[in-house]
Amino acid sequence: MAVPKGLVAVLAGDGIGPEVMAATREVCTAVEKAYGFQLEWKEGLVGGAAIDARAKALPDETVDLCRSAQAVLFGSVGGPKWESLPPNEQPERAALLPLRKIFGLYANLRPAVLYPELVGCSPLRPDRVAGGFDVLVVRELTGGLYFGKPKETVKTAQGERAVDSMVYETHEIERVTQVAFRAAAGRKKRVTLVDKANVLETSLLWRKVVKGIAAQHPAITLDFIYVDNAAMQLVREPGRFDVLLCENLFGDIISDEAAAVAGSLGMLPSASLGQGSFGLYEPAGGSAPDIAGKGIANPLAQILSVALMLEISFSSPEAARAIREAVAGVIRDGWRTADIVAPGEKSVGTRDIAKEIARRIASGRGKG
Ligand code: IPM
Ligand code: MG
Repeated sequence: MAVPKGLVAVLAGDGIGPEVMAATREVCTAVEKAYGFQLEWKEGLVGGAAIDARAKALPDETVDLCRSAQAVLFGSVGGPKWESLPPNEQPERAALLPLRKIFGLYANLRPAVLYPELVGCSPLRPDRVAGGFDVLVVRELTGGLYFGKPKETVKTAQGERAVDSMVYETHEIERVTQVAFRAAAGRKKRVTLVDKANVLETSLLWRKVVKGIAAQHPAITLDFIYVDNAAMQLVREPGRFDVLLCENLFGDIISDEAAAVAGSLGMLPSASLGQGSFGLYEPAGGSAPDIAGKGIANPLAQILSVALMLEISFSSPEAARAIREAVAGVIRDGWRTADIVAPGEKSVGTRDIAKEIARRIASGRGKG
């Protein structure tokens, strides 16, 4: 197999981003050595850090860096320091949304996995999540209410009128649906379309287009669920789902809910993909300013984002598997950061757990 080469743009961002990224890089080094990769890692400014240094959450130089890279490893952005800025300039919105749009990242993969050993971390009753679960939210990321036109606020005789438009075209639905079906093929072979087809025109189009794509994938079962019902079923029995396919806003909400029932946001990676192998990989949790700088943040979401990156952007499923097995191994062996520790147990720091994962990979002990 060809040795993966290329450039990774590393955008650590704010809050816990930099410390989690630093710990993750130790794992990357171990993977590179073990698998003979020749990756170049180049850091760029993003989010509040970029606002402070360059007066812009997504400076042009950062966009250029991402353009020259095969993949972007993203940390997290935002924090109290920048919360008083106008909404359009705040790190989350002014960095993430343009990145998605500029690079055409229309498909967002958000796995929500509850490891059997961490059933106690879920806010759900243990009998509802016994044995853990593994749900994948595939969210459309560059359409719908986030980007549809018109999008404006205008003055009226009575006050103001604001409008956001939920707009979808056939091709936008087709391409993300293909991603969902391909993902399901490597999983439990079930896609559930989350929509509001009893009310929304766009949902009717989604159903029609998704049914058409399903005909090309006879091995995959397709079903449909209204978004309100999906929200309810996720807290009743999350394990009943495999792949949940969602338009942009539904996916935003449903993926946070799936993440919450999986116990800790610090465990969940994500991938944002477009045409070709370029992708942006980021932890699902935010910048967690309350614990930033303490060295206690859970780096597993960032580390698992590297696994997704190696698998998708660098076609290295073996390296990805080694990372996942090392992560599952440390969990099995009782390594716990503060967010997933049981009452009375001792927790380890960000670096400790990353170093242990790196050590296992280096010694070929991914399996723990
Ligand atoms: C997410 C976030 C973003 C979104 C915000 C920060 C713009 O909530 O990635 O889910 O709504 O997409
Ligand atoms: Mg969100």
